[in-house]
Amino acid sequence: EKSGKLIIVAYRLPFKLVWENEEVRLFQNSGGLVSAVLSLVKSQNNAAFNADEKIQWIGFSENSPEELEGQSMENEHFQAHPVFIPADVNENYYEGFCNNLLWPLCHYFPSLARFDDAYFEAYQTANQLFFEKLAEVIQPGDTVWVQDYQLMLLPALIRNHFPSNKVGFFFHIPFPSFELFRMLPVAWRKALVDGMLGSDVIGFHTNDYVEYFLKAARLVSGYGNKLHYINMSNRIVKVDSFPISIDFDQFNEAFEDPGVVQARYDARLSLKEKIIFSVDRLDYSKGIIHRLRGYQRFLETYPDWHEKVSFVMVVVPSRDTIEQYQQMKSDIDQTVGRINADYGTISWQPIIYQYRSMPYPELVGMYTASDVALITPVRDGMNLVCKEYVASRQDNRGVLILSEMAGAAAELGEALIINPLDKQDIADAINTAFVMPEEEQMKRMEAMRQRIRDYDVFAWTNDFFTQMTMLELEHERLR
Ligand code: UDP
Ligand code: G6P
Repeated sequence: EKSGKLIIVAYRLPFKLVWENEEVRLFQNSGGLVSAVLSLVKSQNNAAFNADEKIQWIGFSENSPEELEGQSMENEHFQAHPVFIPADVNENYYEGFCNNLLWPLCHYFPSLARFDDAYFEAYQTANQLFFEKLAEVIQPGDTVWVQDYQLMLLPALIRNHFPSNKVGFFFHIPFPSFELFRMLPVAWRKALVDGMLGSDVIGFHTNDYVEYFLKAARLVSGYGNKLHYINMSNRIVKVDSFPISIDFDQFNEAFEDPGVVQARYDARLSLKEKIIFSVDRLDYSKGIIHRLRGYQRFLETYPDWHEKVSFVMVVVPSRDTIEQYQQMKSDIDQTVGRINADYGTISWQPIIYQYRSMPYPELVGMYTASDVALITPVRDGMNLVCKEYVASRQDNRGVLILSEMAGAAAELGEALIINPLDKQDIADAINTAFVMPEEEQMKRMEAMRQRIRDYDVFAWTNDFFTQMTMLELEHERLR
């Protein structure tokens, strides 16, 4: 039997339409989820779904129905299906339940979590709206792949209405330990767990997240597990870790792109002899304030580097309608301003801070121009930026300083691993990186590059769909 098409459901579509001088163009949405899942279009040699059919992508529409009137939502690789969510629902759903509750809770910021009945109601309504769009698109034999914390109720909705379709679910952020998860009201946490359990395969980035979820399933919904399998009455759910990754070849080869070469040249020309680079979405989980304090401590403790170092810190605008994010933005502005005022001179600006998104050539230009990538999240499901940095370094130079709280730290042990809350640890690591002999940089970089080359984003999707197919065989065996 020929398998059907692949349907992705995620809060974000991969692109939104933007108008510039009356011309419309596609603008890629930011974040690791879009980066990774988008590369699926290049890896269609998959047994789990029919590669001849376009990937269908269902997601929230940032454009109004009027704006989309007459616009094509299709390209050679995929077809987008925009979901329209009324503004008041989206506010309680996206800003509310997703980003004022689930996000802080899963990133170990319980004090930022807000509990509001209207949030949960909107979460249910929105999941239902995604489901209704899916119901228009789905056919027998299709595989559905649901993404992330915005859609935890969706797998069960699909299971109830389309019991024979294969459903995968991937959770892109940390699944928290039970002590945090149990802070959710009883009915909510049960709905979330049962919602996810509508899937055939549930994926997380690390074994810790898998374990925490299995424990939640046991304690919240009473489903025990045998290793990675949960036995529901009429089927099995597989729960496993699939560390998300990047398109290694793309970043590796970009080293010689003319645009990248130019950006690298420009950066080296206009910056000081040592360059530190960081880029993240505006988010309290990224440890931006702690990173700045660490850099300040570095300037305090290692004055020999004054006038010789430029720290380029790019913050990509994100969730700026949410109060916590606005607050954080102004904290960053102030802290940067203070450090530059305290240490800067006529000829030296210690921090070059930009609040904007970065076009790809410039991003890789900065990755390859910098001596140090300073990646210090206080909590991060995986973190793709550090993997992109490593993959870009075809020259095997540069030092990665990486937080032990990033999922990626489990795979990148050759980085200088730091505790992002420890200013002195960050300061010392920067100095260590600056004085590290080239042979040692190369040895560390080569080992990390090999690991990401071996497990790139194509291995990630392939693994996930292999598990989906194997589970199908397992079900047949049990029938
Ligand atoms: N990125 C982006 N826009 C930019 C700069 C970077 O979309 O202006 C990409 C970056 O290349 C990476 C992703 O955003 O692929 C960030 O993923 P990560 O897992 O590090 O963090 P997330 O944003 O998902 O929390
Ligand atoms: C992270 C989340 C994604 C989210 C992205 C951007 O990568 O895992 O689900 O889409 O951040 O955040 P935003 O709120 O703009 O969708």
